[in-house]
Amino acid sequence: MNSLSATAQNTISSLVVDHDTAAESTVLTSSTAEPLTGPSEKDQLGLVLIVDDTPNNLKVLSETLADAEFEVAIATSGESALEQLNHTPVSLILLDVMMPGIDGFETCRRLKANPDTADIPVIFITALSDATNKVEGFDLGAVDYISKPFERREVIARVRTHLKLNQLSRALEAQNAQLQQLNQQLEDRVEQRTTALAESSAQLKSTQLQVVQNEKMATLGSLVAGIAHEVNNPIGYLRGSIQNAKDYANDLCEYLAVYQQHQPPVPAVQESAEDLDVEFILEDLPKLLNSMSGATDRIKRISTSLRTFSRADTECKVSANLHEGLDSTLMILKYRLKANEHRPVIEVVKDYGDLPEVSCFPGQLNQVFMNVLANAIDMFDEMVDQVSIDELKARPQQITIQTRLLAEHRKIEVRIADNGKGMPEEIRSKIFERSFTTKEVGKGTGLGLAISHNIVVETHEGRFDVETVVGQGSTFVICLPIV
Ligand SMILES: Nc1ncnc2c1ncn2[C@@H]1O[C@H](COP(=O)(O)OP(=O)(O)O)[C@@H](O)[C@H]1O
Ligand SMILES: [Mg+2]
Repeated sequence: MNSLSATAQNTISSLVVDHDTAAESTVLTSSTAEPLTGPSEKDQLGLVLIVDDTPNNLKVLSETLADAEFEVAIATSGESALEQLNHTPVSLILLDVMMPGIDGFETCRRLKANPDTADIPVIFITALSDATNKVEGFDLGAVDYISKPFERREVIARVRTHLKLNQLSRALEAQNAQLQQLNQQLEDRVEQRTTALAESSAQLKSTQLQVVQNEKMATLGSLVAGIAHEVNNPIGYLRGSIQNAKDYANDLCEYLAVYQQHQPPVPAVQESAEDLDVEFILEDLPKLLNSMSGATDRIKRISTSLRTFSRADTECKVSANLHEGLDSTLMILKYRLKANEHRPVIEVVKDYGDLPEVSCFPGQLNQVFMNVLANAIDMFDEMVDQVSIDELKARPQQITIQTRLLAEHRKIEVRIADNGKGMPEEIRSKIFERSFTTKEVGKGTGLGLAISHNIVVETHEGRFDVETVVGQGSTFVICLPIV
């Protein structure tokens, strides 16, 4: 027993093994006890549990296996084997069929019913002649059987084969589990990458849109500024010439009056004067010239507005009058505010406070005003299907622009309010997101408010909020530091 493992010795020492009453059938046919497996193999193969009520069988089997350097534990009944299995991991069970208490078959049934022990291979110990037992054992899930009387080498060979098989299948299971885990990890990573890719693709799309939008604005800006500049010279010339024409016309009228006084006209001249209605011409000419100079003034103002609106921003902030920016934006949007066949004019109410100049990028702020005002007009245009002309006349569509100085905080506030349809929460919460639009393809890009938010909050360190009530309207609030 000196080569028996510690576990086997401990277990055996706790049993009463009566060597003298060993059953007749238990025969050790080979007395050579040289180890058939190496120590390293033994360590890996694990513990063999021998379950038998016959002490002599236990002794022979455990000595045979221990001599062959297997780790061995023993149990003298099915119950105690099941008990042992609760706390000791076992790699193989040698199970006697005929035992008092629960027999080998019942023990095996219970082993297979418990998920913790179901995978432990079971080898039945039966009498050589007992073919029925063997078949029943296999039916219950046994992997093999050992016949009494024992053939020592056969026992070792069978035990070793099944321990190895068990070890291999465990390794395979572990590898399988690892493979499954790797597979899962791979799937997770693919999913993460796909999500990241979709996100960056969306980001790229909206960045592209923004680049296109900025490029458009810049091109349009320089085009408009160029036209405004080109128009300036002829307008300047016209304004000067009309002034001269006014002076000349005054001089001529005076001259004619003096002439008429001192040289009463002959009948032919009198007749021609009546034909031409000289009286009317003399009265109307100054008015005509005045309205001509009024028209050139307007063209001049439009051109100035265009240049103010489309002014290219420099590297650093400049002091600017926001009212000029708002007015130039309104001037550019004037044609959209006018009445059309679907709705009356959109009224604009200006409630300007006394604002100091603000240090800012005026061109970018004009873009913000343009986006907010254009959205309000878009919304009014969309509403034409929902309200009747009579309703619109009773409650005209209106945009109110209020500016004020928040002196205590050295800030200014611009509130652009409409009395339109307002926004429900699910829309309001998304309007500053890139690419969010409720407009049909081609009409909306969903970038206007995202870009505006960026301009106000990031570039100008201000606040850009919206207050809105469904059915009553929306107010966009732009708050900017003065310096
Ligand atoms: N004054 C407003 N009243 C109601 N809804 C508005 C108003 N301004 C903006 N919105 C909503 O915000 C959305 C996003 O606006 P915006 O970023 O300018 O993109 P777009 O105008 O291209 O749709 C609009 O599609 C609209 O649903
Ligand atoms: Mg818009």
